[in-house]
Amino acid sequence: MPLLQVEGLRAGHGQGADVLHGISLTVAEGELVCLIGANGAGKTTLLRTIMGLVKPRAGRVQFAGREIAGMATASIARLGASLVPEGRGVFPGLTVLDNLRLAATPWGGTGVALQAELDRVFALFPILAERRAQLAWSLSGGQQQMLAIGRALVTRPKLLLLDEPSLGLAPNLVEQVFDTLAEINRLGVSTLLVEQNALMALDVSHRGYVLELGRIVAADTAAALRDDARVQGAYLGG
Ligand SMILES: Nc1ncnc2c1ncn2[C@@H]1O[C@H](COP(=O)(O)OP(=O)(O)OP(=O)(O)O)[C@@H](O)[C@H]1O
Ligand SMILES: [Mg+2]
Repeated sequence: MPLLQVEGLRAGHGQGADVLHGISLTVAEGELVCLIGANGAGKTTLLRTIMGLVKPRAGRVQFAGREIAGMATASIARLGASLVPEGRGVFPGLTVLDNLRLAATPWGGTGVALQAELDRVFALFPILAERRAQLAWSLSGGQQQMLAIGRALVTRPKLLLLDEPSLGLAPNLVEQVFDTLAEINRLGVSTLLVEQNALMALDVSHRGYVLELGRIVAADTAAALRDDARVQGAYLGG
């Protein structure tokens, strides 16, 4: 059974119409899977529904062997799902170190165990080690993105859900963030990556899904999607 299995998921906002019209996808243990799609396709809504931040209207979401559709977000997080939201989500008034420490509180991370997690993040993002005493608001956009990913890692996730980590970053930083995501995945963290930067996302992913207006319209290996004429026309600039 895959680590994450979504089946026939329908969801929308408030009293509004469905935004997700029966989504099915899987992420296996150890996989890096990307979800690509245009503005408004429903990518963020899907991640938020998986995390219990948007209420599913129908369908199933199984994670780590449990049915999680309808569960509270905190319980889903405790099972090992960690979302890096669109627009980052760090505490601007806290230092880099305190941002990371705080993310470890749900599992009671202290002492040697906490230090091991911090060392892991600092090895992936050396700039965060250099700036550990700096307040988060004073970091650059790319550094704040790294800190947001670092915060998610410190929760010791089984599954990392990333919502457009490349948004607003300079091209050289985009490459660095994607390289690091691939490295994190190699270290054993299964990942569902939402991106508009389709080429970069497919380059680091094992498999991918294409979402259009709340429906999955293509699902294949990353290599096959890169060669798909429809995907190239719509998402890879021809
Ligand atoms: N909080 C909300 N309340 C009402 N409608 C919403 C809300 N959030 C999103 N929507 C609507 O749901 C649809 C899907 O939006 P969503 O944010 O999931 O798309 P997305 O694929 O993440 O787009 P983007 O690439 O721009 O981030 C859109 O029509 C949007 O207007
Ligand atoms: Mg979005």
